[in-house]
Amino acid sequence: MTDAIQIVLAKRPEGDVTADCFREETVALPALTDGQLLIRSRFLSLDPYMRPRMTEMRSYTPPFALGQPLTGGSVGEVVDSRNPKFVKGDLVIGMLNWASHTVHDGKGLRKVDAGVPLSAYLGVLGMPSFTAWYGMKHICKPKAGETVFVSAATGAVGQVAGQLARLAGAKVVGCAGDEDKCVWAVREAGYDACFNHRTERDYGAVLDKLCPQGIDADFENVGGRLFHAVFERMTNFGRIAFCGAISEYQDTTPLAGPEKMFGIVQKRLTIQGFIVSDHVALMGDFINDVAPLLPSGKLKSRETVVDGLAKAPQAFMGLLKGENFGKLVVKIS
Ligand SMILES: NC(=O)c1ccc[n+]([C@@H]2O[C@H](COP(=O)([O-])OP(=O)(O)OC[C@H]3O[C@@H](n4cnc5c(N)ncnc54)[C@H](OP(=O)(O)O)[C@@H]3O)[C@@H](O)[C@H]2O)c1
Repeated sequence: MTDAIQIVLAKRPEGDVTADCFREETVALPALTDGQLLIRSRFLSLDPYMRPRMTEMRSYTPPFALGQPLTGGSVGEVVDSRNPKFVKGDLVIGMLNWASHTVHDGKGLRKVDAGVPLSAYLGVLGMPSFTAWYGMKHICKPKAGETVFVSAATGAVGQVAGQLARLAGAKVVGCAGDEDKCVWAVREAGYDACFNHRTERDYGAVLDKLCPQGIDADFENVGGRLFHAVFERMTNFGRIAFCGAISEYQDTTPLAGPEKMFGIVQKRLTIQGFIVSDHVALMGDFINDVAPLLPSGKLKSRETVVDGLAKAPQAFMGLLKGENFGKLVVKIS
């Protein structure tokens, strides 16, 4: 019999997530039945979408259940299997518990190989990067000479979105939450400019300065007041890939939308919300496009690795305040 250390949702947050929303438990796992496998987690991905799932909000994914382990995209190693598709030693990616070990039915798991660092499957070769690729390629569609804006520009999604726009020949402007991130965006990721959204209070003024011709495509990760300023500066036939609105995830009262919505008509804007999991059929195209950019350094990526499952709650609370730099993963074993 195997014991698992797991982190469960102890309380639903109201406003900011607090440490008492989580509880660490040790549980004895049941013996495997036919079709099941036991997976030891190696890396757990922490992602903004987990915040809405902590509430009872009806959304595209169901809420986490109170008293049950949270789940997240993870890479793990099969340690025991009664499923004919997997054998001991296989490395797999899929949704696992925030836990040392998970008993799984095998559905939705994909085998990966150890030829690349395992955390990359959760970042630059995984869901966040795929999100950036889909939104940039299929919605923003940047062209040479255009101006593209990316919020949360150095996050897991933003860092890839911005670089793909730059590789398409566009001028790329971003924002991030501290000076080091902005310096990295410009020097390493090749953004033309990046401003600090925490110290820059007049978003309209800074966007007018950095995007004097307006914004042709917006890859929207943040929402809120920042998005309102971007929206007003969209050019005719502009495209907005609405990927997320992290600045609003902890709000207890919803923010009103931007003013001058008739601008959508006047400027003939395309505004498209999207969820990357709707597009898994394109995963192969994404890998074909993005993987070759990595060895040569044409596409750079940052990650923050936190050591130990016990630190996952603190790291997740930090993600919602911008403490991570690039993709945030927890090394579990
Ligand atoms: N539609 C989809 O299928 C899909 C898939 C993946 C992710 N997403 C969305 O994409 C966005 C980025 O996700 P990610 O995985 O790349 O996360 P991430 O960038 O790794 O982490 C979140 C970052 O957002 C920034 N942030 C946090 N609170 C903020 C606030 N109040 N105002 C402005 N920035 C804030 C922080 O960076 P700073 O230091 O720059 O503030 C933080 O590091 C999120 O909105 C997420 O929900 C959507």
